[in-house]
Amino acid sequence: MKIGVIGCGGMGTTHYLSLRALSEQEGVEVTCLSDCRKEFLDKAAAYFPNARTYEYGMDLIKNEDLDIVHICLPSYLHAGHAVAALEKGMNVFVEKPVCLTEEDCQTLLEAEKRTGKKVMVGQVVRSFEEYKFLKEAYDTKKYGRLKSMVMQRISGDVRWGFEDWFHDEKRSGSVVLDLHVHDLDFLRYMLGEPDSFDVKATAFPSGMINQIITSYEFGDTFVTAEGIWDVSPSVKFHADFRACFEEATIDFNSARTPSLIIYRPDGAIETPELKGEYEAESDVAGINISNLGPYYTEIKYFLECVRDDKPVEIAPLIEGVRSVELAIKELETAKAYVAKHTH
Ligand SMILES: NC(=O)c1ccc[n+]([C@@H]2O[C@H](COP(=O)([O-])OP(=O)(O)OC[C@H]3O[C@@H](n4cnc5c(N)ncnc54)[C@H](O)[C@@H]3O)[C@@H](O)[C@H]2O)c1
Repeated sequence: MKIGVIGCGGMGTTHYLSLRALSEQEGVEVTCLSDCRKEFLDKAAAYFPNARTYEYGMDLIKNEDLDIVHICLPSYLHAGHAVAALEKGMNVFVEKPVCLTEEDCQTLLEAEKRTGKKVMVGQVVRSFEEYKFLKEAYDTKKYGRLKSMVMQRISGDVRWGFEDWFHDEKRSGSVVLDLHVHDLDFLRYMLGEPDSFDVKATAFPSGMINQIITSYEFGDTFVTAEGIWDVSPSVKFHADFRACFEEATIDFNSARTPSLIIYRPDGAIETPELKGEYEAESDVAGINISNLGPYYTEIKYFLECVRDDKPVEIAPLIEGVRSVELAIKELETAKAYVAKHTH
């Protein structure tokens, strides 16, 4: 299968390193790459000496015929490139958030329908072993009912982006669409749409939201999820959750080894061994990625969907869209909260 990667910055590097690992087993060839920053394009090209290179993603789409294109551009560029690639007949793997506006959500859904091509969104938390373990415990009810859950996704200030796009709400959607979208997407995946939610938030001095704490109700389960871009870039990234079931508490912290611990009512402590399909460190500077495993897993899954013409079930476009729609509602509520509490 012929594959192209557009955007070889932080996330693009994670994608092309995963594709390089996959190419050894899956009959995959990265035939073209694009990045408008020469040093990033050159670094990527060093891994794929036979790949054609393009400064701009739209030129790659225009000139290439591919089975799959990976879109790892800043979020405000996702929708335009994804639609152009679908129209060109490519299947599309697009990073999260799939887009930033309700209008783009509809445009993407129409393009997917019109072209009949496949789209997967990089809602990678759905492919993390610890979150898969949690969802399975929930689905099978092996620890009884889930009563409550607290989640966090904590990042230092994000200063590595191309032209500082993370700090512009119009280009990133703020911490809400960029970071917190991971947790709300996973919650929707496991629990369905929330019955209600309540938001508290803070903003950077620029006025853009940098912290959101949302309390959701899903039937008789309540969940609180925090996403923050700290004012300091030195805060180390970590994600965690504590899921309180009737007969166990599952505690995950990405910064701890072992990352997942189960506490039972009789005092027993279990640390299940979670083995991913692939384990390797990424060499991405700055970006919050240390383990390629879940990215490899989601990318391999999409390759199989395309190769075997199977429907995308783990993170199809409609799911990415629904998560963006919820995130937009939360962002609006966060802005109203900050406006009301800022004097
Ligand atoms: N799934 C995850 O865990 C995860 C983690 C981080 C980022 N992301 C997402 O990945 C996307 C990219 O984020 P990032 O951190 O890699 O950003 P980045 O700024 O590091 O990388 C984006 C790259 O795109 C290039 N670029 C910009 N315009 C271009 C164009 N028109 N044509 C070709 N290249 C162009 C830039 O030069 C840059 O190298 C975002 O949507 C972000 O939300 C996802």
